[in-house]
Amino acid sequence: MDWSKLHEDRVLVLDFGSQYTQLIARRIRESHVYCEIHPYNASLEWIREFRPKGIVLSGGPGSVYDPGNPVLNEEVYSLGIPILGICYGMQLMAWQLGGRVEKAAHREYGGAVVDVDEPLELFQEIEEKGVRVWMSHGDHILEPPPGFRRLARSDNSPVAAMGDPDRKFYAVQFHPEVAHTACGRTLLENFVFHVCSCRSTWTMKSFVESVVRSAREKVGDDHVVCALSGGVDSSVVAVLLHHAIGSRLHCVFINNGVLRKGEARRVQRVFRDHFRMNLVYVDASSLFLERLAGVTDPEKKRKVIGNLFIELFEKEAAKIPRARYLAQGTLYPDVIESVSFKGPSATIKTHHNVGGLPERMKLELVEPLRELFKDEVRQVGRELGLPERIVKRHPFPGPGLAIRIVGEVTPERLAIVREADAIVMEEMEASGTYDHVWQAFAVLLPVRSVGVMGDERTYEQVVALRVVESVDAMTADWARLPYALMARISNRVINEVQGVNRVVYDISSKPPGTIEWE
Ligand code: XMP
Repeated sequence: MDWSKLHEDRVLVLDFGSQYTQLIARRIRESHVYCEIHPYNASLEWIREFRPKGIVLSGGPGSVYDPGNPVLNEEVYSLGIPILGICYGMQLMAWQLGGRVEKAAHREYGGAVVDVDEPLELFQEIEEKGVRVWMSHGDHILEPPPGFRRLARSDNSPVAAMGDPDRKFYAVQFHPEVAHTACGRTLLENFVFHVCSCRSTWTMKSFVESVVRSAREKVGDDHVVCALSGGVDSSVVAVLLHHAIGSRLHCVFINNGVLRKGEARRVQRVFRDHFRMNLVYVDASSLFLERLAGVTDPEKKRKVIGNLFIELFEKEAAKIPRARYLAQGTLYPDVIESVSFKGPSATIKTHHNVGGLPERMKLELVEPLRELFKDEVRQVGRELGLPERIVKRHPFPGPGLAIRIVGEVTPERLAIVREADAIVMEEMEASGTYDHVWQAFAVLLPVRSVGVMGDERTYEQVVALRVVESVDAMTADWARLPYALMARISNRVINEVQGVNRVVYDISSKPPGTIEWE
């Protein structure tokens, strides 16, 4: 199903490998214009068929003078579509269209100040003097190509922006997509609305309407199975499809024994009682714990849980007679990672998706969130009436609490980490801190240490508190929590969780650490 066809006014971002490419698409979508990222060498036929109203050439790590540098098919310049070049995208335009590009002796990186000479459409409603922008480039432009005018300059960039209003080609040396460029949003909106004449039709309401319509068309009278985990993505997929096909959606929720406190009950309450969905609940907690007995290696734990999950899910799905589709919560960043110029970079999600299942079970995939960024998924969830608690949920690994117990998973150790986790959640929420961090959780360490309680000497277990800030989980830093909050969590865990006499705070960043301990 080609969901993207549903949004007529759209912008194409061609990716030359910049770390900021995703941000360009996010910013444009925040202005309610649909936008997709594709590799820089997307074919001309494909671009024509995609019918973008504007094309953005992203930045990239290279220099136009590097041998083998990625270049744009020059015929793209003849399509009559407005183009905005950013950083490397600008140098490339200048180089390919006959301007003068100079290889810089050293890279300019960081904040810079730009003065606007001639606003044209691009700099409308932006100050003319002292515009603060973010630069990160090697080469720079000495002279714009024929037909272009210089629009702005900075101390280090004689041509910090250029434009050819007749062909509707514009380019900027700085990065309008990053937050440090204060006027960035206005500049991108000027391009999208004034230069490309896009209308803002991309809203989550319109997304829901169109996905519901096309899901109905695609699925027809068939039935769909969906593995529900209680996380944001699978929950949104479920309500979205339920909206579209009602009782022909069958959700399977497997209790793998390593869920959070109260989670199994909560999921059933929301999806079966509130939304009135077909929900198959399988309590396999004892089976999972049996198979986990004696396993200490983190990879092995993941495998045991993953394999048993697939085995059980397959069995349940086989009981749904007319199932032809499997619904999955694949998101846009996963899609970009697999198609982009950079090639697949480290993915964080593959391990928990039910990979391999669709072929084995002869099911076709339905992935209604393929076009969405995470914050858009949350908005869709809200639009469909999912409780805030689910919409705002932190990521939670598929192998659950099992990888938050270092060493063997036993019922006793599980009870400790589950109680400690519940206290961490309660305190993070009560203090209003939950929404400001990426993840917060407790880890049970395989260590005992000496303590005193009353007059007695104790020799008990240690819980590590892990709270991190991050934007995409690829890098993370430990959160500078208020001492009072740390103290409250520590006191409560030690007093309320039997078997724990010490709480430590993890102050490692990623890299070199990871978020989970495993
Ligand atoms: P690490 O520990 O590698 O984690 O820094 C990065 C992010 O991925 C989450 N994570 C998982 N998510 N299934 C998931 O759905 C998993 O098996 C899994 N392992 C780690 C982790 O919580 C963090 O947000």
